[in-house]
Amino acid sequence: MKIISVCGARPNFMKIAPLTRAFAARPEIRNLIVHTGQHYDEAMSKSFFDDLHLPRPDVNLEVGSASHAAQTALIMQRFEPVVLEQRPDAVLVVGDVNSTIACALVAVKLLVPVVHVEAGLRSFDRTMPEEINRLLTDALSELLFVTEPAGVRNLEQEGIPAAKIHLVGNVMIDTLRAHQALAEQSRILETLRLAPQSYGVLTLHRPATVDHPDVLAGVLDALAEVQRSLPLVFPVHPRTRGNLERTGLLARVRQMPGLRLTEPLGYLDFLKLMSRARVVLTDSGGIQEETTVLGVPCLTLRENTERPITIEQGTNELVGMDPQNILDGFRRVLAGRRPARVPDLWDGHAAERIADVLARWHAARAARG
Ligand code: UD1
Repeated sequence: MKIISVCGARPNFMKIAPLTRAFAARPEIRNLIVHTGQHYDEAMSKSFFDDLHLPRPDVNLEVGSASHAAQTALIMQRFEPVVLEQRPDAVLVVGDVNSTIACALVAVKLLVPVVHVEAGLRSFDRTMPEEINRLLTDALSELLFVTEPAGVRNLEQEGIPAAKIHLVGNVMIDTLRAHQALAEQSRILETLRLAPQSYGVLTLHRPATVDHPDVLAGVLDALAEVQRSLPLVFPVHPRTRGNLERTGLLARVRQMPGLRLTEPLGYLDFLKLMSRARVVLTDSGGIQEETTVLGVPCLTLRENTERPITIEQGTNELVGMDPQNILDGFRRVLAGRRPARVPDLWDGHAAERIADVLARWHAARAARG
């Protein structure tokens, strides 16, 4: 069975890594890695291949940054000849980035079955580019691997046949568990001269948060207060850095002594940093899941989440982008921890379950001829 596994943007690499290992352990599966090049900086891409011991991609489409339409179109144009040449039995895509939908669309039109890992998540907010990518990718997929029960319900409500849906757990958490011991050796706390539990971590990169100067300024108002009582480490995503520079807000950030800006961090350093934080403030999707597993309180600066289990069972709380709500949430965290548990199947073995299902699916297809 020949699979093309697609990755393109930073959060994809953690999802592809355990799948690559699970496929390599099965002689009947041949896996090719295609990197679209959606993310290309050393800190956004190569450092993850190094930290996660991922093999170099078999193909790099080198598309780079552009508008949504231009980026998606270029990925499609460059991916099509790869599929035509390789004729895989399936194209596997992960997550919800532009690379995900672009490659799914190419594959399905060439009659190659699409496998979507991390299917079914819905924020029900169609202003998010990721929500559009998720909806469309799921509609095109032949096999849908889901991380949490809400995802199964969402897909069923959209009319996806139950036989295509598999609740298998979370490949991102496979990677977290596989690298926890290694991350312990990271010296990031010493480098930043931080004691455990004496700081918070902040990440912001979503267009809804960082592309609107008024919203970003409001968030900075809240952060100005937070950093007075707890220093915050802020690894700055390139999109966010660009916007802070363009809007002149970078000068304001630099005036906050408790807000420490760094370049984007590698996987192991970031995992270590999160694991010892008093709190994480973020607008990321994956970080909501990682903090739940680490038992670290997470304040999500968004109005909704496609990952409700992190609130129902985990450490996550939605505080939106209103400065007062962010501060209230922060004070609640300082006042005491809520009980939390790790969701079922987030046990480090999701990728093996996926490989099992794929092998059975392929054998059944082969038997049918
Ligand atoms: C993308 C994903 C988002 C994911 C995020 C993780 C889509 C629609 N969005 O958003 O879901 O959470 O990745 O990071 O696919 N840039 C660099 N170097 C890079 C990559 C990007 O400097 O290696 C800069 C460019 O100026 C680019 C901007 O960041 O224009 C945004 O990059 P892009 O890939 O368009 O979207 P992200 O915001 O990273």
